Amino acid sequence: MKQTLQIEVIKELLDYIDHQRTVDAGSVVANPASSYTCEKLAAREWDAFFQNHPQVLGCSGDLPKPGSYMTTDDFGVPILATRDQNGKFHAFVNACRHRGAQLTSSPRGEQNRFSCPFHAWTYAADGRLLGVRAVEQFGAIDKSCNGLIELPSAEQYGLLFVHPQRDGVLDVDGLLGAEFASELSTWDFGRCEYQGESVLDMPLNWKIANDTFGEVYHFTSLHKNTLANLLHGDVATYKEYGQHHRLCLASKYIDVMREQPEPTWSLPMAGAIAYYLFPNTQIVILNQMMVLVRIYPNRKNIGQSLSRVSHYSAAHMVPQLTEVERVSKLSSDNLYQPDTSAPMAFSLSAMTELFVSTVEHEDYLMGTKTQIAANSGKIDHFLFGRNEPALHHFHNNYRSALGMPPLEEYRAG
Ligand code: FES
Ligand SMILES: [Fe+2]
Repeated sequence: MKQTLQIEVIKELLDYIDHQRTVDAGSVVANPASSYTCEKLAAREWDAFFQNHPQVLGCSGDLPKPGSYMTTDDFGVPILATRDQNGKFHAFVNACRHRGAQLTSSPRGEQNRFSCPFHAWTYAADGRLLGVRAVEQFGAIDKSCNGLIELPSAEQYGLLFVHPQRDGVLDVDGLLGAEFASELSTWDFGRCEYQGESVLDMPLNWKIANDTFGEVYHFTSLHKNTLANLLHGDVATYKEYGQHHRLCLASKYIDVMREQPEPTWSLPMAGAIAYYLFPNTQIVILNQMMVLVRIYPNRKNIGQSLSRVSHYSAAHMVPQLTEVERVSKLSSDNLYQPDTSAPMAFSLSAMTELFVSTVEHEDYLMGTKTQIAANSGKIDHFLFGRNEPALHHFHNNYRSALGMPPLEEYRAG
């Protein structure tokens, strides 16, 4: 995000803080509880958003060098993603052309060739079939036609995309739109370095999990002992980019930053930026950390979902800190009581722990209660307030893509 836009957003956040206001969607809407329980809807969304829609596989930093690879089964197609000897990113179906065994089940690693564990056919990182063991006994094989099956893939703006269908159209610029793509490009996600990941497999529908990232209304209550010590609740800016959107939050440090010269202002230090990529991806930038969250339905249980939370270091996104500032203000015993008078130069591991444990033990735990309420069949709808525009946006886009009418306005009385 350009510095001028960062300053503009920081000013908007300060204005909201000073006037105790926040973004206003203009109406309260009702979302049917069946959105989280209807099996027919779940089948349609799986088809539309997970089988026939591009998926974000990760960041460029997930495949840092030639020979890097990673695997996933998160959206029903077993994927082997590689970076070949020329540095090119590929996404293959992780299935041997002989009898379909997975080339590797390791989540990630480094190797330039893959030997199938079943009968030892070997493949290069660019998908070519290199060798068929005991070919004189097996029979003649045209190696040139039996490489790994490659899916449409693209590496753009530091992100890795794949389309689950062999003949799927993967147009990343069309998917993001020019304005959103341009803003994402300014963060230089390609420089983010992979640090690790957490997987949350919990009993809540994937859309309830998604909803937890779409509002700050809950900060001062649900996160009162955790994130609310770091971030202002009830304050967020909001902007839509087609089906996608951006929320910006204010950290307590914004109150210090406002006294400093504007040219030194930095939004990842004054708060947090949460980008949402339709349908299931969140990119959160906070201080020197970038977190990529992808949320997937469980096909066997509509009330279960899996969130893959990948963490990256992103020191290039904030101004260089002085050595004094670099010293962590956050130790294990004051994780939730930080000194917010100084820039949040927290260690990445402390930030990651704070993020993941808050999502798991507070946001998603609360989401599991929403799921129980929806499952009970005793509640017709849940309400999205004027201060929760991102939830209006997500659910209306979801409904529109499935040919459903927009959420109905809720009228008091
Ligand atoms: S299934 Fe891979 S070599 Fe047989
Ligand atoms: Fe939260």
